[in-house]
Amino acid sequence: MHILVTGGAGYIGSHTCILLIEAGYDVIVFDNFSNASKESIKRVEKIVGEEITLIEGDIRNRDDLHNVFNMYKIDAVIHFAGLKAVGESVEKPLKYYDNNIHGTIVLCEVMAEHHCKSIVFSSSATVYGDPHTTPIKENFPLSATNPYGRSKLFIEEMLRDLYISDNAWKVVLLRYFNPVGAHTSGTIGEDPYGIPNNLMPFIAQTAVGTREYLSVFGDDYDTHDGTGVRDYLHVMDLADGHVKALDKINNFNEVITINLGTGTGYSVLDMVKAFEKASGKQVPYKIAPRRAGDIAKCFADATYAKEILGWEATRSIDEMCQDSWRWQSNNPNGYKKED
Ligand code: NAD
Ligand code: UD1
Repeated sequence: MHILVTGGAGYIGSHTCILLIEAGYDVIVFDNFSNASKESIKRVEKIVGEEITLIEGDIRNRDDLHNVFNMYKIDAVIHFAGLKAVGESVEKPLKYYDNNIHGTIVLCEVMAEHHCKSIVFSSSATVYGDPHTTPIKENFPLSATNPYGRSKLFIEEMLRDLYISDNAWKVVLLRYFNPVGAHTSGTIGEDPYGIPNNLMPFIAQTAVGTREYLSVFGDDYDTHDGTGVRDYLHVMDLADGHVKALDKINNFNEVITINLGTGTGYSVLDMVKAFEKASGKQVPYKIAPRRAGDIAKCFADATYAKEILGWEATRSIDEMCQDSWRWQSNNPNGYKKED
């Protein structure tokens, strides 16, 4: 089976390619490299021991997509391609709506023209807004507080409408909690451009000495130590969730929406301690004001994923930190040194 992986050179896409290939799928990576390096795919090729078809193109460009669908008989799409920086989305909303929403519209139109109607979409726990309670179930009310989140919410709705219009579509919406960690080889991982917005890459860069200290955004939340609590999930567990979604996609006769998280919440200070233990390095930190738009607690009820996909996260917080550290310490400049 040929699987088109949009955004396949990025953080989650590159890890997912490994498990797809190991599961016997034929992978075609499609990426415009707006937030990725070709080096990530070269390294995936080393891990899996085979060449990967890599096509440079933009999901907003109909011709780019038609070329791929004309070249290969694509059976399903895993759709990672998207912009994901919350702060930038507030400053440049149209860029996010164009890339994420318009890009998904063009992708779905081209898929339909080529009779490929199976899609696994990267959604996010951000669609729950500020949840009234935790753990979060899939049927909780949805809302968005920024253009990035709204683009995810809107794409979810769009894909539901598409299914209503034509039941031949197979749609799986995966709502990720907080992906962290890296492949155990230490050769691929998260490589954010500039100053990381997310906690784990910031901690890793502080441990390796690229950043002086971590600012802990708020210590007065209603949590066990006052700092924000999130559901950190190993990226290889997340990758496995995609393979399981694809394995089962033809069994589904409705749009399936699934939380992918561990079901356990850790605070910022829990993560700092775990990282120090895994790396043997100090992670200096200072308490700073709350970050605008942040919520106190966000963690999944992950029971539906187990029920419907037979998936559950298996990797511990120690493994997440060890694998992040292996990647960060082996590649202090990310993929750049070999670009
Ligand atoms: P990433 O930026 O590493 O990967 C996204 C990839 O898409 C990049 O390789 C980028 O070059 C590519 N891309 C972007 N726009 C494109 C376009 N128009 N055409 C072709 N390629 C394009 O991000 P990631 O962390 O791997 O996230 C993958 C997906 O999962 C995204 O849709 C993101 O919104 C979603 N998600 C991520 C997280 C997270 O914490 N990382 C959480 C929830 C959801
Ligand atoms: C952020 C995004 C969310 C996105 C998710 C995964 C915001 C407001 N939300 O969520 O839309 O889906 O990433 O990509 O950006 N923290 C610090 N210091 C730091 C960085 C983070 O204390 O330098 C804290 C945060 O306040 C939070 C926790 O660490 O409590 C996790 O932050 P982060 O990794 O940015 O993820 P989210 O806030 O869950």
